[in-house]
Formats: sequence, C-alpha cells, structure tokens
Amino acid sequence: MPRPNHPQWFEQGAAHIWLPYAQMKTAAPPLPVVKTAGSRLYLDDGRELIDGVANWWTACHGMNHPHIQRTIHAQIDVLPHVMMGGLAHEQSYRLASRLAALLPGDLNHVFFSDSGSVAVEVALKMAIQARLNHGGKGHKILSFRGGYHGDTFATMSVCDPEEGMHHLFQSVLLQNIIADLPTTPEHITALRDILDRHHTELAAILVEPLVQGAGGMVMHDHSVLHILRELADEYGLTLIFDEIFTGFHRTGALFACESAGVVPDIITLSKALTGGFLPLAATIARTHIFNAFYDDNPQHALMHGPTFMGNALACAAANASLDLFEREPRAEQVRAIEAHLRESLEPCRSATHVRDVRVIGAIGVVELESSVDVRVIQHELIARQVWVRPFRNIIYLTPALTITSDDLNQLTTAITHVVGV
Ligand SMILES: Cc1ncc(COP(=O)(O)O)c(C=O)c1O
Repeated sequence: MPRPNHPQWFEQGAAHIWLPYAQMKTAAPPLPVVKTAGSRLYLDDGRELIDGVANWWTACHGMNHPHIQRTIHAQIDVLPHVMMGGLAHEQSYRLASRLAALLPGDLNHVFFSDSGSVAVEVALKMAIQARLNHGGKGHKILSFRGGYHGDTFATMSVCDPEEGMHHLFQSVLLQNIIADLPTTPEHITALRDILDRHHTELAAILVEPLVQGAGGMVMHDHSVLHILRELADEYGLTLIFDEIFTGFHRTGALFACESAGVVPDIITLSKALTGGFLPLAATIARTHIFNAFYDDNPQHALMHGPTFMGNALACAAANASLDLFEREPRAEQVRAIEAHLRESLEPCRSATHVRDVRVIGAIGVVELESSVDVRVIQHELIARQVWVRPFRNIIYLTPALTITSDDLNQLTTAITHVVGV
C-alpha cells in the first residue's frame, strides 16, 4: 500500500496500475522515482539510489546521457514517427546500415520491432517460414534449459519449462523441444541424440549466447556456441542467437557472437539498443535467410509489421547510442568493471549462504542457497542506497558501463555486507 506521504499521482494511480511479474495482493509497493541521472535514481522522499541493474539492462551509457537526449529532442521537432508501410525515414535506414556494418558476417537484413519478445517472435517466424518457402516442414524450435526469451506465447514456449515463470501455460503452449546446453560430453551426446530423433520436425536452434540471463544468470564458454554452430549446420537448422541481454558490450565484446567467433543465422537485439531511452528491437538475418523470402511469389513475403516499427525517435536514440559506442571507451570500461566485480565479489564465496560467485564482462552474480529470502536482501540493499532486483536465489549486478568506480564500489560493498562477509 502506498505510504500517505507519497505524491498524489502515486496514490491515485496505485489502484489502477498493474505491475510486472507481481502478485498484486502481496507485492511490495514500487519506489516512486522523480528524477534520473547517470547511475542515480532520485526518489520522491529525497533518497538517492545507485542503479545496479541499468534499468533492466538497458541504460548502458547511464540514464539521461546528454548526446541521446539532444538527438531525441532534435528528432521530435522534425519527425517523431512515420509508418514504415510505404514510407521511409532517415533514422531507421541509417540504423539498419550501421547495425549491418557492426554485426559479423552477412548479418545484413534488419527487421525492426518494439520489444525483445517480439524480436524473438519475428526470429522464430523467419526461421520457420524460410523452410516453408522452400517446401520444408520442420517448424519446432530447439531451445535450452535455463533459457528465457520473453513473455509472449511463442517465446514462452521456448523458455525453460520448469524453472521459467511460464510453467502454468505448459499445456497450451506450442510444443517445442528443450535440451541441456552442450556444456559436458554427456550433454553433447544427449543433444546429438535429440537431433538425430527430431531434426525433421525442427526449424531452428535458439540460444542466449554466453549468458542465460533471466533464467538464472548462468554462464557458458565459447565452445558451446561452436558446437551449436556445427550441429545446426550438420542437421540443416537455423541458428538463432538471442543477444537481447548480451548485446552492446554486456559480456565484453560488442556482441557475444563476436567474442565467440560464431556467426548465427539470425540475431535478436533490444534492451541497450537505444541506450535505455525508448523501446526498440531488431531481428537481423543473414543473406541466405533473407533470400528464402526474396522471390516473385507474394506468399513468400514475411507478413509482419508492428505499427510502431522503426519508430523515428527510438531509431534516433539508437543511432545516438551507436555514436557513443564509437566515441567513448566502452570496451575498456567493461574490462575495468569486470576486474572490479571479480575482485570485490569473490569474498562472498566464503559467506555461509552463498553457493556461487560468477562474473563475465559487466555482469556480476552472487548465487545464494535457495532458502534465502532475497526480498529481505533487496530491502537491506535499498537501505544502503543500492537498487538491484534479485530474483529466485540470484543477486546480480549489471550496472551502466559508465558507472564510476566509487558507485561500483558502493554496490559491491553493499552486496558483500548483506550476504554476510
Ligand atoms: C534474452 C532475452 N530475450 C528476450 C527478452 C524479452 O524482452 P522484452 O522484455 O523486451 O520483451 C529478454 C528480456 O529480459 C531477454 O533477456
């Protein structure tokens, strides 16, 4: 329930707003934020929190970056939005060519949408239709335990069926195939076995490269992606990398696929694409996927077109965000963050209720015993001026890549204290 001294908009809206991932009866009330800057959230009651999760992994340059602000301001005066059906505008065309130039190989064909889940839906649709257009039949998707790809119906069907949050829907979802990531010789054999038995039913293999994020912040090494590339080629399947979390330097390199040296057939991007200012997503296909649609038959077209596809303000923000990646030393900043996270979170390993500590790029994870109530931990962290959003038994940091070392220090010190080091 809202506290009596909260602002009027909060009091009035609280009875009407439906919050994400929340049991509305018992959920703690959210914290009213009145201003943001860099890695700081300013609350209505005067408190200031350090944002340890970059606004759900989006605000890679910190919040309110002036270059993105100025670009959006300029765009809004000239052309806030035009529909992409039949009309074109500069920001989306420039962004498409810049993304194609940044991505490895011939990942050259960019389809814009407005959220990560929809970008994954489009990737699945592309993979399935690319087969249908060639008279193929396989339509199922092979995805992995621990994976998370969104909350829409098709994406729910490729999330982890048990650990994921969509198990209630299992009986009504598309029947796809789930496997363990090929991280051990036994899992490689098991995956091969699944592919031997099911490859004719399949269209694609879908994976979050290097880190399974919302499924538990579980990391794997490059070899897993090489194995998936080999198996996809051997069994004639489309390989989709969902880089909605890992893209834009989160794991170190600009894209996880780049650091692994593996080119998927389709990649999905969102989250940090606009530097955290506006919703935008992209599904980018290699030329052989695009060519499966490119012919004289109108039935072979990709029949998809979100109303706000390629929104000019969002594309302007994304172009400005790419300017910052060009101009500012994000790769070095990630290296410094990684070194800091490794050193400062490592002592947590000795705490009684800590099961594991792991770090890659600008992602730091402290996994607790499942008996620990992370809501209590979140509460204690807020008292220490730290904003994080632990889930299940996972406390994690995914700060802005521009976070100062003092702020980062405050985040890691607070975590080590609350886990009892
Ligand atoms: C890897 C991955 N894919 C897809 C999504 C869904 O994105 P959105 O919440 O924008 O629909 C997420 C969101 O956390 C994600 O981490």
